Amino acid sequence: MSSSKSVAVVTGSNKGIGYAIVRGLCKQFQGDVILTARNEANGQEALKKLNAEGLKPVFHQLDITDDTSIQRMRDFLQKNYGGLDVLVNNAAIAYKMAATEPFSEQAEVSMATNFWGTLNACNVLFPLLRPHARVVHVSSRAGSMTAAKCSKELQTRFLDPELSMAKIKQLMNEFVESAKAGTHKAKGWHESAYGTSKIGVTLMTFVQQRELSADSRPDIVVNACCPGYVATDMTSHKGTKTIDEGADTPLFLAMLPPNTTSPKGQFVAERKVQNML
Ligand SMILES: NC(=O)c1ccc[n+]([C@@H]2O[C@H](COP(=O)([O-])OP(=O)(O)OC[C@H]3O[C@@H](n4cnc5c(N)ncnc54)[C@H](OP(=O)(O)O)[C@@H]3O)[C@@H](O)[C@H]2O)c1
Repeated sequence: MSSSKSVAVVTGSNKGIGYAIVRGLCKQFQGDVILTARNEANGQEALKKLNAEGLKPVFHQLDITDDTSIQRMRDFLQKNYGGLDVLVNNAAIAYKMAATEPFSEQAEVSMATNFWGTLNACNVLFPLLRPHARVVHVSSRAGSMTAAKCSKELQTRFLDPELSMAKIKQLMNEFVESAKAGTHKAKGWHESAYGTSKIGVTLMTFVQQRELSADSRPDIVVNACCPGYVATDMTSHKGTKTIDEGADTPLFLAMLPPNTTSPKGQFVAERKVQNML
């Protein structure tokens, strides 16, 4: 039966920064914390480790590239909680520098998870957001660094004051199409599939906040952030921060108090608002 108990969801939280975000939310958030993983066994394993620390997240399977999985997540939340209070979009992939897959494939696959997967999850789950909900996109400074290396013409489009979701989708599609045609450099893109997907994640934040601010539900705040350089599988454990240190800014944004006016619809690192470009 549906209840109004508060609930937080963290995507890709069986390991790395997402796992530490779940751990932090279990300690700070008043309500249930849902640990999600695309692989059920890996999720259950993570759950056991947190249980051993005395923490009690709830597990639910979620693959952000699978529409059916996202819909099941939505139905679970609707049925058991009747809404959603915190959504941390943390799940992402990154090819290693030594990856041998062609750049066109890296572009398409990175974009499918990091940009389209995140956007699709938002589109299905946002209708559940309750007043005062907090949404955090774990993006990356790699997005800003990649944007800084793109052509002036592309940068002007990133900073368009009339940016819309349609324009962001168009940009991300143009990147993948030009990567497939081998013309991405000539078209002004930088050779980073991961970085470009994170440009899309950061830009979607600005548009989503504008849309949610016009929504009848009051005080919903969406921010993007960079967790810093964190020792996880993604960085082959070369990062200088622990996962709990990497979780600090995402947790700060997830726990922003009622009626926060800043950060709101912004890109944040080390708890401070940053320029995207
Ligand atoms: N580490 C850093 O220095 C750093 C810096 C800047 C930004 N970030 C961002 O921080 C976030 C977490 O990264 P991390 O370093 O913790 O990476 P990680 O250890 O590789 O963890 C990534 C998580 O995302 C999950 N995931 C991947 N594809 C998914 C999908 N389709 N559906 C659901 N979950 C999926 C992974 O699941 P599996 O276990 O099944 O693969 C894993 O749980 C990412 O958004 C990353 O871009 C990291």
